[in-house]
Formats: sequence, structure tokens, C-alpha cells
Amino acid sequence: MTTERTLSIIKPDATRRNLTGKVNAHLEAAGLRIVAQKRLWLSRAQAEAFYAVHRDRPFFNDLVKFMTSGPVVAQVLEGPNAVAKNREVMGATNPANAAPGTIRKDFAESIEANSVHGSDSLDNAKDEISFFFARTEIVG
Ligand code: CMP
Repeated sequence: MTTERTLSIIKPDATRRNLTGKVNAHLEAAGLRIVAQKRLWLSRAQAEAFYAVHRDRPFFNDLVKFMTSGPVVAQVLEGPNAVAKNREVMGATNPANAAPGTIRKDFAESIEANSVHGSDSLDNAKDEISFFFARTEIVG
């Protein structure tokens, strides 16, 4: 198994409910190491840039509004097959379809307020990590 890094975001619905530690406990129990972490409040321009791939989707404006509604915690996770492992522990995008024991099943409120984001491929992980973190901020 290859050691990978992936980008995770704990979203405003989870920070609002003080769930950062509980989300992190799920990540660590899955064997992922949090090798960088910062709490920040995204500007509209930052959220639009981060989710640019979804620009033409009907939910884009609401997504940007939600992601700028409160603080987020951006993280770099490291471990064997970290991209797929993180998506497994996150659960399905819609919490109604998420498997038991996943972060979204346990904490998400809706398909929009779904508590966490995770990169969907290794290529995207590289881009998303560099969106938030300098190399010197990632300590494996
Ligand atoms: P995320 O993994 O952060 O990537 C895009 C986000 O758009 C997704 O999680 C959801 O939170 C949000 N979203 C809102 N509505 C929808 C929808 N109908 N389908 C997919 N994603 C949606």
C-alpha cells in the first residue's frame, strides 16, 4: 500500500457544533494521521475558487454560502491509501446513504451540511493541499 496525503475539511456545520475532536477521532481510528491542520474562515472568493469545479451545478451558490457561514478546519491526512481511506471513513455525500460508523452517518445534517470534505483523487488531493498549505506547514 502506498502512503498518500489527502485534503480534508471539517465544515461549518461541524465546527458550529464543536465536533472537531470527534471528527478527528474517527479519522485517527481509521489509521489516518493529521499531519497539518488549521482553522480558518473562508472568504467568498476562496470558497468559489476551491469549489470552481462545481461552478455550473445548481447547488453552487448555496454551497459557497454554507462554506462561508462559519469556521472550517482544513487538514492534511496521511496514511496508506489515504485518499480512498478518508472517503471510506467520511461516508456517502448524502448522509441518508452513509454507512454506519462513518463521519457523515454520525454527524452530518444534510447533503449540503455534510460535516466533511475529502479529496476524490490523488491528483485533486495535491491541488487541494497546496490550496491551503505551504510545504513547511505539513509535518509528517
Ligand atoms: P463535497 O465533498 O464538499 O463536494 C461538493 C459539495 O457540494 C458536497 O460535498 C456537498 O456538501 C455539496 N452539495 C450540495 N448539494 C449537493 C448535491 N445535490 N449533490 C452533490 N453535492 C452537493
